[in-house]
Parts: sequence; structure tokens; C-alpha cells
Amino acid sequence: MSLRLGDTVPNFTQASSEGEINFYDWAGDSWVVLFSHPKDYTPVCTTELGAVARLKSEFDKRGVKTIALSVDDVDSHMGWIKDIEETQKVTLNYPILADGDRKVSDIYDMIHPNSLNNLTIRTVFVIDPQKKLRLSITYPASTGRNFNEILRVIDSLQLTDKYSVATPVDWKDGDDCVIVPSITDPKELAEKFPKGYTPVKPYLRMTPQPNK
Ligand code: BEZ
Repeated sequence: MSLRLGDTVPNFTQASSEGEINFYDWAGDSWVVLFSHPKDYTPVCTTELGAVARLKSEFDKRGVKTIALSVDDVDSHMGWIKDIEETQKVTLNYPILADGDRKVSDIYDMIHPNSLNNLTIRTVFVIDPQKKLRLSITYPASTGRNFNEILRVIDSLQLTDKYSVATPVDWKDGDDCVIVPSITDPKELAEKFPKGYTPVKPYLRMTPQPNK
């Protein structure tokens, strides 16, 4: 069965371009973006892995580690990494899991045979420090992902965890947020939202982004 939001993600031990990885130990107390791609030495994947490396400082700021996966072996990854670094003008600064035996792909349901036979499609899993699945997105092989969107969702998730706000359509860092519907007590509202809020409707209450 596929993983659902809120599930505890399964642990695994697998080979990678940075040696064997026990996922829980490697993740530690960090957030994690675990993402699969169809195959080494393919054009879209080359651009994606370069983009994630370029965004390292943005992931670091948010306490996020990144890890990629395909069903190619470590030797293939090591050769391809040289191409990524050459063509994308980056140093690859995170591991690529070598999931030749499909151990991780199977438990994370990363192979969708009616879309792409026997290869992983483009899945993205955002996992929090408690190892809970917080976001899951699936893209077809032919569409490269927008990792700035993944950062935007992580910003939203972290705001929700810390400040009891949700984020409205097209929200970006610095925009007003919405107060989660579960908070209705006036004292709690005053304590949690000292900048005040605008009750557009009883269920739609806008407040300035709390950490700005
Ligand atoms: C790519 O990464 O370019 C790619 C991989 C599989 C199918 C289509 C595109």
C-alpha cells in the first residue's frame, strides 16, 4: 500500500554514492526531501539533480537534507555525477541512493508500471524530523520538477508547526497567512497572534506572517 500523509515512513539501509545509508540514522533530526528520478544519464534528471545541489543553502536554512534515488548502481551514479557537475556547474552535495534491488522503490511505491515500466518515476517525499510523511508529489518522467515549489511547501509546513497558521493560495514567504480553524478561543487568539488578525469571515481570518 502506498504511503499516506501523516504515516511514519519506513526505514531502510541501502547503497548510495556516499556509501551505505541507514535512512533514519542519516536523517537524524533533520527534515528530509527524498526524491526519485527515472534513470542516470538522462537529460531532465541531469538538470534536476543540478538544481537541487544549487539550492543547498536554501535547504540548509530550513534544516532539510536532500537525497535522490534511482535504480541504477553506484558505479553508474559516480560516472553520471561527473556529468552533472560538468554540465550544471555545481558540486553534487547530497547522496544518490542506488536502489538496484528496488528495496526502497517498492516500500515507497516509486515505480508506476503503467506510466514507466520498471523504472522509478519522479516522486517527492517531504519527511519531518519525527519521520512522518508531510508531502508527497508524483510527476511523470517527462516533466522536470520545480524545487522552489518544494521549498515553498516546506516553509508552509514549518510555519504551521510553529505558529498555528496555514497558507492561502499562491502564498509566498512574507505574505499574510490564515489562522487554523481549530483556534477559536479569544484569549488564545490574542496570545498566538499579537500582530492581530482580520476576520474576513468567521472561518477566514488573515494574519501577518508571524515570523516576519
Ligand atoms: C529524462 O530524465 O530526461 C527522462 C527520463 C525518462 C523519460 C523521459 C525523460
